[in-house]
Amino acid sequence: MTDTIQIDLALVEELTKRETAALDEKHARSLAYREEARAHLPGGVSSSWQSWPPHPIYVDRGEGAYVWDIDQNRYVDYHNGYGVMVMGHAHPKIVEAVRRRVALGTHFAQPTEDALPVAEQLTERTGLPYWRFGNSGTEATLDAVRIMRATTGRDLILKIEGTYHGHHDALMVSVFPPEDKAGPRDHPNSVPQTPGMIPGTTDWTINVPFNDLEGAQRIFAERGDEIAGMIVEPVMTNCGVVLPDDGYLEGLKEVCHTHGAMFAFDEVKTGFTVGWGGAIGVFGVTPDLVAFAKALGAGLPCGAIGGTEEAMARVIEGSLDQVGTFNGNPLTMAATRVNLEEILTEDAYVRLDEIDAILRGCDDVIAKYKLPASMKTLSAKGSIDWSTTPIHEYRDLWAIDDRIPQLAWLWQLNRGVFKSPGSKWESWTTSIVMRDEDAQRYVDNFEGMAAAISR
Ligand SMILES: Cc1ncc(COP(=O)(O)O)c(C=O)c1O
Repeated sequence: MTDTIQIDLALVEELTKRETAALDEKHARSLAYREEARAHLPGGVSSSWQSWPPHPIYVDRGEGAYVWDIDQNRYVDYHNGYGVMVMGHAHPKIVEAVRRRVALGTHFAQPTEDALPVAEQLTERTGLPYWRFGNSGTEATLDAVRIMRATTGRDLILKIEGTYHGHHDALMVSVFPPEDKAGPRDHPNSVPQTPGMIPGTTDWTINVPFNDLEGAQRIFAERGDEIAGMIVEPVMTNCGVVLPDDGYLEGLKEVCHTHGAMFAFDEVKTGFTVGWGGAIGVFGVTPDLVAFAKALGAGLPCGAIGGTEEAMARVIEGSLDQVGTFNGNPLTMAATRVNLEEILTEDAYVRLDEIDAILRGCDDVIAKYKLPASMKTLSAKGSIDWSTTPIHEYRDLWAIDDRIPQLAWLWQLNRGVFKSPGSKWESWTTSIVMRDEDAQRYVDNFEGMAAAISR
């Protein structure tokens, strides 16, 4: 264990009170609006996770690397809509593509010609030949589950404990299981994430810890002939950023195939943010199926499910319907085409690495102040874990005191940096339009907090 300071939690609470009061002061309109909004929008928001204490951040507009709240405070955007806006807000090429398309009609429930070049781009980046589109990450992972079950004729799905794949029942299992419900590490319980799931749903989804290849092999040895497939986020992005151990992803693919099961990546968050070819490109492991969404559509609702010829065979032959009124929506396809062909090119990832290099300055701050913290980044994604040893799997998060990341979030917010609420769960996403000083601001703010809690 390295030599680190002991953080005084009473001081953290005192600073949090001060930061909350400072935020409230800047948010007169936001606080009033929340009261108005609550009359018709539960919690004053449109999605439950848009609300985070002390109050939701109501956004007015975004341009480039910045967003403005409805009180007209400006922030460098590290939230980027959960990583969607890695190309920056209102990118002129996206604005132009949408403007061009909107005048030609926005919906036909029939394919438009932009869908094919989008599919070709995805094939070039991943090596997977077949693609269908949808409107969200949830739809893409739902399709992945359905295809795995239909193709193998088996029912059981294996996922990773502590990963979120969208809000459909099959995968709303053991997303954030509390310590007292999670069960033993070698056979974690299947914990429903929400009320309202059909009883018994959780019998069909089992889970194992991330980065535990032996654990996955053990489950396959026990129940391999029941498992339709395994879905994995190749880099966990909702426990901070958790990188896969060397050989882990290859090992999972191998054990799936040995037992006749399919192997799917959820690249909803890693796609187009961790590299030009997503995690597939970074780690050199190609799954049978991959789900993309978020950054794919440059801010328009989007989703994609892609796969090998074998994996997509039932969709190709028409014995499994992959459907949706808005699938391949013309506006989404027009924006996505420009996003992939002209904006998120290989050069874009060079810029993301330059920004990352500046942000790595947080590592020096951690060392200088002997903080009980560690940092992980991969291209546009990054996180600081308030733990001396990097988070390696979901259960490691239980040791982190929520009050420290909450203060870190508020501290940045009050100094012009907007990060995803959700404190210890969330990673940041940078954008290709950030300037060096936007990255340096994060590091400087972090140092300011380090000094304050080291008092
Ligand atoms: C890894 C991952 N998969 C799937 C989803 C679901 O995507 P959506 O919110 O577009 O339905 C999310 C959403 O945050 C996600 O982080």
